[in-house]
Amino acid sequence: MADIKVLTLLGSLRAASINRQLAELAAESAPEGISVTIYEGLGDLPFYNEDLDTEDAPAAVAALRAAAAEADAALVVTPEYNGSIPGVLKNAIDWLSRPYGNGALKDKPLAVIGAALGQYGGVWAHDETRKSFGIAGPRVIETIKLSLPTATFGGKHPRETAEVAEAVREVVGKLAAEVS
Ligand SMILES: Cc1cc2nc3c(=O)[nH]c(=O)nc-3n(C[C@H](O)[C@H](O)[C@H](O)COP(=O)(O)O)c2cc1C
Repeated sequence: MADIKVLTLLGSLRAASINRQLAELAAESAPEGISVTIYEGLGDLPFYNEDLDTEDAPAAVAALRAAAAEADAALVVTPEYNGSIPGVLKNAIDWLSRPYGNGALKDKPLAVIGAALGQYGGVWAHDETRKSFGIAGPRVIETIKLSLPTATFGGKHPRETAEVAEAVREVVGKLAAEVS
């Protein structure tokens, strides 16, 4: 049987992003039969503009929608910026929410996790990402939650903290189990 394909959307564009490291961990530790890929093009998207959202949409938009259409599920890994969703991720949500009622992630399971500096690990951003994607079309899996304060990692790659590695692997497994 073909692997279940999980597309990871990152809320940080920073090269040394801890959330990118969490996404790497999700990819390398995914249970057998699940392939996790990190989408690299969110920083290339123009700001959402209905005037650009035509049949001839910008190439970066078409690429995102094609990758989303290929995926069976989506995993969002994001920090919190000023108590909310980083702009790059909110912009991607808006592009993925159209065509209205028929976006490329429509009805596909989606989970939100991530890490942030604050003691609550970015839970505001994660809750708001779930809310926004819940309106945009995917089937948000509200029971999958993981909001990690960056202090959890002690300055090391998240893969080096056994509980984190186990929690991320569990997230990927639970998300894939939602694919029908
Ligand atoms: C513009 C900006 C706003 C931030 N706002 C918050 C915040 O509201 N809450 C929080 O916990 N951390 C906040 N932080 C700190 C980030 O959580 C921290 O830099 C984190 O490592 C960013 O994720 P990354 O390593 O994946 O890039 C902010 C960082 C930046 C650059």
